[in-house]
Amino acid sequence: MTALHPADTPRTTSGSADLLQRRYSVLGPNTPMFYVDDPLQIVSASGVQITGSDGRTYLDAYNNVAHVGHCHPRVIEAVTRALSTVNVHSRYLTDTPIAYAEALLALFPESLDRMFFTNSGSEANDLALRLARFHTGNSGILISDHSYHGNTQALMAVTTGLTMSEPIGKHVRTFTAPDLRGSTISLDEAFAQLDAAIADLEQSGHGLSAVLFDPLFSTEGLPDLPEEYIAGLCARVRAAGGIVICDEVQSGFGRTADHMWGFQATHFDPDLVVLGKPMGNGFPLGAVIAPAGIVEPFSAANTYFNTFATTPAAAAAGHAVLDVMESEGLMQRAQQASVLFEKGFRELVDGDERLTGVRGTGMFLGMQFVDAATGAPDGATAKTIVDAMRTNGVLIGRIGRNDEVLKIRPPLAFGVEDVPVALDAFDKSLRSVRR
Ligand SMILES: Cc1ncc(COP(=O)(O)O)c(C=O)c1O
Repeated sequence: MTALHPADTPRTTSGSADLLQRRYSVLGPNTPMFYVDDPLQIVSASGVQITGSDGRTYLDAYNNVAHVGHCHPRVIEAVTRALSTVNVHSRYLTDTPIAYAEALLALFPESLDRMFFTNSGSEANDLALRLARFHTGNSGILISDHSYHGNTQALMAVTTGLTMSEPIGKHVRTFTAPDLRGSTISLDEAFAQLDAAIADLEQSGHGLSAVLFDPLFSTEGLPDLPEEYIAGLCARVRAAGGIVICDEVQSGFGRTADHMWGFQATHFDPDLVVLGKPMGNGFPLGAVIAPAGIVEPFSAANTYFNTFATTPAAAAAGHAVLDVMESEGLMQRAQQASVLFEKGFRELVDGDERLTGVRGTGMFLGMQFVDAATGAPDGATAKTIVDAMRTNGVLIGRIGRNDEVLKIRPPLAFGVEDVPVALDAFDKSLRSVRR
Protein backbone atom coordinates (compact mmCIF):
# COMPACT_ATOMS: atom_id res chain seq x y z
CA MET A 1 0.00 0.00 0.00
CA THR A 2 1.49 3.33 -1.02
CA ALA A 3 0.41 6.55 0.62
CA LEU A 4 -0.14 9.72 -1.32
CA HIS A 5 1.89 12.77 -0.41
CA PRO A 6 0.04 16.10 -0.24
CA ALA A 7 2.37 17.47 -2.93
CA ASP A 8 0.98 14.96 -5.41
CA THR A 9 -2.03 16.02 -7.38
CA PRO A 10 -4.85 13.51 -7.22
CA ARG A 11 -7.52 13.53 -9.90
CA THR A 12 -10.37 14.15 -7.49
CA THR A 13 -13.54 16.13 -7.82
CA SER A 14 -13.16 19.38 -5.86
CA GLY A 15 -15.21 18.14 -2.86
CA SER A 16 -13.06 15.02 -2.52
CA ALA A 17 -9.85 17.03 -2.94
CA ASP A 18 -10.88 19.21 0.02
CA LEU A 19 -11.69 16.14 2.09
CA LEU A 20 -8.33 14.63 1.19
CA GLN A 21 -6.51 17.75 2.37
CA ARG A 22 -8.49 17.65 5.61
CA ARG A 23 -7.52 13.98 5.99
CA TYR A 24 -3.84 14.89 5.58
CA SER A 25 -4.24 17.66 8.14
CA VAL A 26 -5.64 15.40 10.84
CA LEU A 27 -4.28 11.92 10.04
CA GLY A 28 -1.05 12.81 8.27
CA PRO A 29 -0.08 12.07 4.66
CA ASN A 30 1.08 8.48 5.14
CA THR A 31 -2.00 6.69 6.43
CA PRO A 32 -2.75 3.87 3.97
CA MET A 33 -5.56 4.59 1.55
CA PHE A 34 -6.89 2.72 -1.46
CA TYR A 35 -6.94 4.41 -4.88
CA VAL A 36 -4.42 7.05 -3.85
CA ASP A 37 -3.93 8.32 -7.42
CA ASP A 38 -7.60 9.09 -7.83
CA PRO A 39 -9.25 8.88 -4.41
CA LEU A 40 -12.67 7.33 -4.18
CA GLN A 41 -14.89 9.12 -1.70
CA ILE A 42 -17.62 6.79 -0.56
CA VAL A 43 -20.94 8.30 0.46
CA SER A 44 -23.20 5.29 0.97
CA ALA A 45 -23.44 1.53 0.53
CA SER A 46 -26.10 -1.14 0.41
CA GLY A 47 -25.85 -4.88 -0.18
CA VAL A 48 -22.91 -5.35 -2.54
CA GLN A 49 -23.08 -1.84 -3.96
CA ILE A 50 -20.98 1.14 -2.93
CA THR A 51 -21.86 4.68 -4.06
CA GLY A 52 -19.17 7.29 -4.57
CA SER A 53 -19.31 11.09 -4.37
CA ASP A 54 -18.77 10.93 -8.14
CA GLY A 55 -22.38 9.71 -8.35
CA ARG A 56 -21.32 6.26 -9.55
CA THR A 57 -22.35 2.97 -8.01
CA TYR A 58 -19.62 0.36 -7.77
CA LEU A 59 -19.91 -3.39 -7.34
CA ASP A 60 -18.01 -4.35 -4.19
CA ALA A 61 -15.78 -7.36 -4.89
CA TYR A 62 -13.34 -6.57 -2.10
CA ASN A 63 -14.87 -5.94 1.32
CA ASN A 64 -15.27 -8.98 3.53
CA VAL A 65 -16.20 -6.85 6.55
CA ALA A 66 -19.66 -6.10 5.16
CA HIS A 67 -20.07 -9.86 5.14
CA VAL A 68 -23.86 -10.18 4.85
CA GLY A 69 -24.05 -6.99 2.79
CA HIS A 70 -23.44 -3.32 3.51
CA CYS A 71 -25.93 -1.74 5.92
CA HIS A 72 -27.90 -4.95 6.31
CA PRO A 73 -31.25 -4.01 7.91
CA ARG A 74 -31.24 -6.97 10.33
CA VAL A 75 -27.83 -6.07 11.68
CA ILE A 76 -28.84 -2.43 12.01
CA GLU A 77 -32.06 -3.42 13.75
CA ALA A 78 -30.33 -5.82 16.18
CA VAL A 79 -27.65 -3.29 17.14
CA THR A 80 -30.18 -0.46 17.43
CA ARG A 81 -32.37 -2.59 19.68
CA ALA A 82 -29.43 -3.43 21.95
CA LEU A 83 -28.27 0.18 22.06
CA SER A 84 -31.75 1.35 22.96
CA THR A 85 -32.35 -1.36 25.58
CA VAL A 86 -29.13 -1.86 27.52
CA ASN A 87 -25.49 -1.70 26.48
CA VAL A 88 -23.37 -2.13 29.56
CA HIS A 89 -19.85 -3.45 29.55
CA SER A 90 -18.70 -6.99 29.85
CA ARG A 91 -18.45 -7.19 33.65
CA TYR A 92 -22.25 -7.24 34.06
CA LEU A 93 -24.38 -10.29 33.37
CA THR A 94 -26.51 -9.80 30.24
CA ASP A 95 -28.07 -12.48 28.07
CA THR A 96 -27.23 -11.31 24.51
CA PRO A 97 -23.48 -12.13 24.65
CA ILE A 98 -24.12 -15.54 26.20
CA ALA A 99 -26.70 -16.51 23.58
CA TYR A 100 -24.31 -15.39 20.84
CA ALA A 101 -21.34 -17.28 22.32
CA GLU A 102 -23.48 -20.45 22.48
CA ALA A 103 -24.53 -20.04 18.84
CA LEU A 104 -20.98 -19.34 17.68
CA LEU A 105 -19.32 -22.18 19.60
CA ALA A 106 -21.90 -24.59 18.17
CA LEU A 107 -20.24 -23.98 14.78
CA PHE A 108 -16.88 -25.36 15.97
CA PRO A 109 -15.65 -28.87 16.74
CA GLU A 110 -16.67 -29.95 20.23
CA SER A 111 -13.16 -29.62 21.63
CA LEU A 112 -13.19 -25.86 20.96
CA ASP A 113 -15.69 -25.06 23.69
CA ARG A 114 -14.64 -21.71 25.16
CA MET A 115 -14.17 -18.22 23.77
CA PHE A 116 -12.88 -14.76 24.54
CA PHE A 117 -14.52 -11.78 22.83
CA THR A 118 -12.25 -9.01 21.54
CA ASN A 119 -12.76 -5.80 19.53
CA SER A 120 -10.51 -6.68 16.61
CA GLY A 121 -8.46 -9.35 14.92
CA SER A 122 -5.30 -7.74 16.33
CA GLU A 123 -6.49 -8.02 19.91
CA ALA A 124 -7.53 -11.61 19.29
CA ASN A 125 -4.18 -12.64 17.79
CA ASP A 126 -2.36 -10.86 20.59
CA LEU A 127 -4.36 -12.80 23.16
CA ALA A 128 -3.89 -16.08 21.26
CA LEU A 129 -0.10 -15.65 21.39
CA ARG A 130 -0.35 -14.95 25.10
CA LEU A 131 -2.46 -18.08 25.65
CA ALA A 132 0.07 -20.13 23.70
CA ARG A 133 2.96 -18.84 25.77
CA PHE A 134 1.11 -19.54 29.01
CA HIS A 135 -0.01 -23.01 27.93
CA THR A 136 3.34 -24.24 26.59
CA GLY A 137 5.77 -22.34 28.83
CA ASN A 138 7.71 -21.48 25.65
CA SER A 139 8.08 -18.12 23.90
CA GLY A 140 9.12 -18.97 20.33
CA ILE A 141 6.78 -18.24 17.43
CA LEU A 142 6.77 -19.49 13.85
CA ILE A 143 5.32 -17.13 11.28
CA SER A 144 5.18 -17.05 7.50
CA ASP A 145 7.68 -14.74 5.84
CA HIS A 146 5.03 -12.57 4.19
CA SER A 147 2.15 -12.22 6.60
CA TYR A 148 0.09 -9.79 8.64
CA HIS A 149 -1.86 -10.63 11.78
CA GLY A 150 -2.42 -7.25 13.42
CA ASN A 151 -1.04 -4.06 14.83
CA THR A 152 -0.20 -4.52 18.54
CA GLN A 153 3.35 -4.46 19.90
CA ALA A 154 3.43 -8.26 20.19
CA LEU A 155 2.20 -8.59 16.60
CA MET A 156 4.72 -6.09 15.22
CA ALA A 157 7.33 -8.62 16.33
CA VAL A 158 5.79 -11.17 13.93
CA THR A 159 4.88 -8.83 11.04
CA THR A 160 6.69 -9.80 7.86
CA GLY A 161 4.29 -8.66 5.15
CA LEU A 162 4.14 -4.88 5.78
CA THR A 163 6.83 -2.24 6.09
CA MET A 164 7.85 -1.94 9.75
CA SER A 165 10.74 -0.07 11.34
CA GLU A 166 10.97 -2.70 14.08
CA PRO A 167 12.84 -5.92 13.23
CA ILE A 168 11.04 -9.20 13.89
CA GLY A 169 11.42 -10.50 17.45
CA LYS A 170 14.38 -12.54 18.68
CA HIS A 171 11.82 -15.22 19.62
CA VAL A 172 10.42 -15.37 16.07
CA ARG A 173 11.46 -17.56 13.11
CA THR A 174 9.94 -17.35 9.64
CA PHE A 175 8.95 -19.96 7.10
CA THR A 176 7.96 -19.83 3.44
CA ALA A 177 4.64 -21.24 2.27
CA PRO A 178 5.41 -23.51 -0.71
CA ASP A 179 3.57 -22.80 -3.93
CA LEU A 180 2.87 -25.53 -6.47
CA ARG A 181 2.99 -22.90 -9.21
CA GLY A 182 6.65 -22.57 -8.54
CA SER A 183 7.15 -19.05 -7.26
CA THR A 184 8.52 -20.00 -3.82
CA ILE A 185 10.07 -23.27 -2.58
CA SER A 186 9.43 -27.00 -2.93
CA LEU A 187 7.65 -29.09 -0.28
CA ASP A 188 10.90 -30.78 0.81
CA GLU A 189 12.65 -27.43 1.14
CA ALA A 190 9.69 -26.08 3.09
CA PHE A 191 9.79 -28.95 5.60
CA ALA A 192 13.58 -28.68 5.95
CA GLN A 193 13.18 -24.97 6.62
CA LEU A 194 10.59 -25.64 9.35
CA ASP A 195 12.81 -28.26 11.00
CA ALA A 196 15.74 -25.83 11.02
CA ALA A 197 13.62 -22.97 12.42
CA ILE A 198 12.27 -25.14 15.25
CA ALA A 199 15.75 -26.48 16.09
CA ASP A 200 17.06 -22.91 16.17
CA LEU A 201 14.29 -21.79 18.55
CA GLU A 202 15.11 -24.70 20.84
CA GLN A 203 18.86 -24.00 20.76
CA SER A 204 18.31 -20.31 21.50
CA GLY A 205 16.33 -21.21 24.63
CA HIS A 206 12.97 -19.89 23.39
CA GLY A 207 11.41 -23.22 22.58
CA LEU A 208 8.26 -23.22 20.45
CA SER A 209 4.97 -21.85 21.76
CA ALA A 210 3.00 -21.62 18.52
CA VAL A 211 2.72 -21.33 14.81
CA LEU A 212 0.32 -18.60 13.71
CA PHE A 213 -1.00 -18.70 10.15
CA ASP A 214 -3.95 -17.90 7.92
CA PRO A 215 -5.13 -21.20 6.37
CA LEU A 216 -5.45 -19.60 2.94
CA PHE A 217 -2.18 -17.63 3.27
CA SER A 218 -4.06 -14.60 1.98
CA THR A 219 -1.45 -11.90 2.55
CA GLU A 220 1.11 -14.19 0.91
CA GLY A 221 -1.03 -14.12 -2.27
CA LEU A 222 -3.08 -17.35 -1.99
CA PRO A 223 -0.27 -19.82 -2.85
CA ASP A 224 -1.32 -23.16 -4.28
CA LEU A 225 -0.12 -25.29 -1.32
CA PRO A 226 0.92 -28.95 -1.73
CA GLU A 227 -1.77 -31.07 -0.06
CA GLU A 228 0.55 -32.46 2.65
CA TYR A 229 1.95 -29.10 3.68
CA ILE A 230 -0.36 -27.91 6.44
CA ALA A 231 -0.54 -31.35 8.06
CA GLY A 232 3.28 -31.53 8.04
CA LEU A 233 3.54 -28.02 9.49
CA CYS A 234 1.12 -28.79 12.35
CA ALA A 235 2.76 -32.16 13.13
CA ARG A 236 6.20 -30.55 13.41
CA VAL A 237 4.90 -27.78 15.68
CA ARG A 238 3.14 -30.21 18.01
CA ALA A 239 6.12 -32.58 18.15
CA ALA A 240 8.17 -29.59 19.38
CA GLY A 241 5.63 -28.82 22.14
CA GLY A 242 3.96 -25.89 20.38
CA ILE A 243 0.33 -25.27 19.50
CA VAL A 244 -1.40 -24.33 16.24
CA ILE A 245 -3.15 -20.95 15.99
CA CYS A 246 -5.40 -20.54 12.99
CA ASP A 247 -6.09 -16.93 11.96
CA GLU A 248 -9.58 -16.99 10.39
CA VAL A 249 -9.85 -13.21 10.13
CA GLN A 250 -9.93 -13.46 6.32
CA SER A 251 -10.87 -17.09 5.74
CA GLY A 252 -13.69 -17.51 8.27
CA PHE A 253 -17.49 -17.32 8.26
CA GLY A 254 -18.08 -19.25 5.03
CA ARG A 255 -15.49 -17.45 2.91
CA THR A 256 -14.46 -20.72 1.28
CA ALA A 257 -18.17 -21.35 0.46
CA ASP A 258 -18.05 -25.11 1.13
CA HIS A 259 -17.01 -24.76 4.78
CA MET A 260 -17.66 -22.35 7.61
CA TRP A 261 -13.97 -22.20 8.53
CA GLY A 262 -10.76 -22.14 6.53
CA PHE A 263 -9.25 -24.89 8.70
CA GLN A 264 -12.07 -27.21 7.56
CA ALA A 265 -11.42 -26.36 3.91
CA THR A 266 -7.70 -27.00 4.37
CA HIS A 267 -8.15 -30.09 6.59
CA PHE A 268 -6.45 -29.54 9.94
CA ASP A 269 -7.46 -29.17 13.59
CA PRO A 270 -6.23 -25.96 15.18
CA ASP A 271 -5.69 -25.54 18.93
CA LEU A 272 -6.81 -21.89 18.88
CA VAL A 273 -8.90 -20.04 16.30
CA VAL A 274 -8.86 -16.28 15.82
CA LEU A 275 -11.85 -14.44 14.34
CA GLY A 276 -12.33 -10.84 13.20
CA LYS A 277 -13.31 -8.76 10.19
CA PRO A 278 -16.64 -10.27 8.98
CA MET A 279 -17.80 -11.22 12.47
CA GLY A 280 -19.84 -8.07 13.24
CA ASN A 281 -20.58 -6.86 9.68
CA GLY A 282 -18.70 -3.64 10.44
CA PHE A 283 -19.38 -3.51 14.17
CA PRO A 284 -15.90 -4.04 15.71
CA LEU A 285 -15.80 -7.62 16.93
CA GLY A 286 -13.22 -10.39 17.19
CA ALA A 287 -12.70 -13.55 19.20
CA VAL A 288 -10.37 -16.32 20.26
CA ILE A 289 -11.97 -19.75 20.23
CA ALA A 290 -10.15 -22.24 22.47
CA PRO A 291 -10.48 -25.49 24.40
CA ALA A 292 -11.29 -25.40 28.13
CA GLY A 293 -7.94 -27.11 28.76
CA ILE A 294 -6.13 -23.99 27.59
CA VAL A 295 -8.60 -21.37 28.83
CA GLU A 296 -9.31 -22.54 32.39
CA PRO A 297 -5.71 -22.60 33.70
CA PHE A 298 -5.00 -19.27 31.95
CA SER A 299 -8.08 -17.62 33.46
CA ALA A 300 -7.29 -19.00 36.92
CA ALA A 301 -3.89 -17.29 36.77
CA ASN A 302 -4.81 -14.13 34.78
CA THR A 303 -7.69 -11.68 35.03
CA TYR A 304 -8.54 -10.92 31.43
CA PHE A 305 -11.47 -8.65 30.70
CA ASN A 306 -12.37 -6.44 27.80
CA THR A 307 -14.74 -3.51 28.34
CA PHE A 308 -16.33 -3.18 24.93
CA ALA A 309 -15.87 -6.64 23.49
CA THR A 310 -18.76 -8.36 25.16
CA THR A 311 -21.34 -5.61 25.13
CA PRO A 312 -24.90 -6.56 24.13
CA ALA A 313 -24.60 -4.33 21.02
CA ALA A 314 -21.43 -6.10 19.82
CA ALA A 315 -22.97 -9.51 20.48
CA ALA A 316 -26.19 -8.47 18.76
CA ALA A 317 -24.23 -7.56 15.63
CA GLY A 318 -22.40 -10.89 15.67
CA HIS A 319 -25.54 -12.92 16.28
CA ALA A 320 -27.39 -11.08 13.51
CA VAL A 321 -24.59 -12.00 11.08
CA LEU A 322 -25.04 -15.69 11.89
CA ASP A 323 -28.83 -15.39 11.60
CA VAL A 324 -28.65 -13.67 8.21
CA MET A 325 -26.12 -16.19 6.90
CA GLU A 326 -28.58 -18.92 7.83
CA SER A 327 -31.88 -17.32 6.79
CA GLU A 328 -30.57 -15.96 3.48
CA GLY A 329 -28.64 -19.15 2.69
CA LEU A 330 -25.48 -17.12 2.08
CA MET A 331 -23.15 -20.10 2.01
CA GLN A 332 -25.34 -21.84 -0.57
CA ARG A 333 -25.44 -18.60 -2.58
CA ALA A 334 -21.66 -18.36 -2.29
CA GLN A 335 -21.29 -21.95 -3.47
CA GLN A 336 -23.34 -21.24 -6.59
CA ALA A 337 -21.69 -17.91 -7.28
CA SER A 338 -18.14 -19.15 -6.66
CA VAL A 339 -18.44 -21.98 -9.20
CA LEU A 340 -19.47 -19.51 -11.91
CA PHE A 341 -16.98 -16.93 -10.73
CA GLU A 342 -13.98 -19.23 -10.84
CA LYS A 343 -15.03 -20.77 -14.15
CA GLY A 344 -15.53 -17.31 -15.68
CA PHE A 345 -12.14 -16.08 -14.52
CA ARG A 346 -10.46 -19.25 -15.75
CA GLU A 347 -11.95 -18.75 -19.20
CA LEU A 348 -10.71 -15.16 -19.29
CA VAL A 349 -7.15 -15.86 -18.14
CA ASP A 350 -6.60 -19.19 -19.87
CA GLY A 351 -3.74 -18.85 -22.31
CA ASP A 352 -2.87 -15.34 -21.13
CA GLU A 353 0.87 -15.58 -20.44
CA ARG A 354 0.72 -12.53 -18.13
CA LEU A 355 -1.23 -14.56 -15.55
CA THR A 356 -0.50 -17.77 -13.61
CA GLY A 357 -4.13 -18.90 -13.55
CA VAL A 358 -6.79 -18.50 -10.88
CA ARG A 359 -5.82 -19.00 -7.25
CA GLY A 360 -7.89 -19.36 -4.10
CA THR A 361 -11.19 -20.99 -3.34
CA GLY A 362 -14.86 -20.15 -2.81
CA MET A 363 -15.40 -16.41 -2.60
CA PHE A 364 -11.72 -15.60 -2.25
CA LEU A 365 -9.98 -15.65 -5.62
CA GLY A 366 -6.66 -14.26 -6.76
CA MET A 367 -4.87 -13.86 -10.05
CA GLN A 368 -1.14 -13.34 -10.17
CA PHE A 369 0.42 -11.11 -12.83
CA VAL A 370 3.90 -12.00 -14.06
CA ASP A 371 6.21 -10.70 -16.73
CA ALA A 372 5.47 -12.97 -19.71
CA ALA A 373 9.15 -13.12 -20.70
CA THR A 374 10.85 -13.60 -17.33
CA GLY A 375 8.07 -14.91 -15.06
CA ALA A 376 8.92 -12.16 -12.53
CA PRO A 377 6.00 -10.86 -10.43
CA ASP A 378 4.36 -7.85 -12.06
CA GLY A 379 2.80 -5.61 -9.41
CA ALA A 380 2.61 -2.66 -11.81
CA THR A 381 0.20 -4.44 -14.17
CA ALA A 382 -1.84 -5.71 -11.23
CA LYS A 383 -2.21 -2.11 -10.04
CA THR A 384 -3.24 -0.97 -13.52
CA ILE A 385 -5.91 -3.68 -13.55
CA VAL A 386 -7.23 -2.72 -10.09
CA ASP A 387 -7.58 0.87 -11.31
CA ALA A 388 -9.16 -0.24 -14.58
CA MET A 389 -11.64 -2.40 -12.67
CA ARG A 390 -12.65 0.65 -10.65
CA THR A 391 -13.11 2.61 -13.91
CA ASN A 392 -15.24 -0.30 -15.09
CA GLY A 393 -17.31 -0.14 -11.91
CA VAL A 394 -15.89 -2.93 -9.72
CA LEU A 395 -13.78 -2.61 -6.57
CA ILE A 396 -11.03 -5.19 -5.94
CA GLY A 397 -7.60 -5.11 -4.26
CA ARG A 398 -4.10 -6.58 -4.37
CA ILE A 399 -2.07 -9.03 -2.27
CA GLY A 400 1.16 -11.01 -2.60
CA ARG A 401 4.85 -10.45 -2.03
CA ASN A 402 4.95 -7.79 -4.74
CA ASP A 403 1.29 -6.78 -4.62
CA GLU A 404 1.03 -8.67 -7.89
CA VAL A 405 -2.02 -10.82 -7.08
CA LEU A 406 -5.52 -9.45 -7.60
CA LYS A 407 -7.57 -9.85 -4.43
CA ILE A 408 -11.19 -10.70 -5.13
CA ARG A 409 -13.01 -11.22 -1.85
CA PRO A 410 -16.50 -9.74 -2.01
CA PRO A 411 -19.13 -9.63 0.73
CA LEU A 412 -20.61 -13.11 1.06
CA ALA A 413 -23.88 -11.60 -0.11
CA PHE A 414 -22.36 -11.42 -3.63
CA GLY A 415 -24.62 -13.63 -5.76
CA VAL A 416 -24.75 -15.31 -9.16
CA GLU A 417 -26.37 -12.13 -10.53
CA ASP A 418 -23.24 -10.14 -9.64
CA VAL A 419 -20.80 -12.57 -11.26
CA PRO A 420 -21.27 -11.50 -14.91
CA VAL A 421 -20.91 -7.84 -13.95
CA ALA A 422 -17.54 -8.49 -12.33
CA LEU A 423 -16.38 -10.78 -15.15
CA ASP A 424 -17.36 -8.27 -17.81
CA ALA A 425 -15.40 -5.55 -16.00
CA PHE A 426 -12.40 -7.87 -15.73
CA ASP A 427 -12.57 -8.73 -19.43
CA LYS A 428 -12.64 -5.03 -20.37
CA SER A 429 -9.86 -4.24 -17.90
CA LEU A 430 -7.59 -7.00 -19.21
CA ARG A 431 -8.17 -5.89 -22.80
CA SER A 432 -7.41 -2.27 -21.88
CA VAL A 433 -3.89 -3.20 -20.75
CA ARG A 434 -1.58 -3.86 -23.66
CA ARG A 435 0.37 -7.16 -23.57
C1 LIG B 1 -5.24 -12.29 8.54
C2 LIG B 1 -5.43 -11.08 9.41
N1 LIG B 1 -5.32 -11.21 10.74
C3 LIG B 1 -5.50 -10.16 11.56
C4 LIG B 1 -5.77 -8.90 11.08
C5 LIG B 1 -5.94 -7.75 12.02
O1 LIG B 1 -7.29 -7.47 12.20
P1 LIG B 1 -7.76 -6.04 12.72
O2 LIG B 1 -7.43 -5.04 11.67
O3 LIG B 1 -9.23 -6.22 12.97
O4 LIG B 1 -7.04 -5.76 13.99
C6 LIG B 1 -5.90 -8.73 9.70
C7 LIG B 1 -6.21 -7.39 9.15
O5 LIG B 1 -6.06 -7.09 8.00
C8 LIG B 1 -5.72 -9.85 8.84
O6 LIG B 1 -5.86 -9.74 7.52
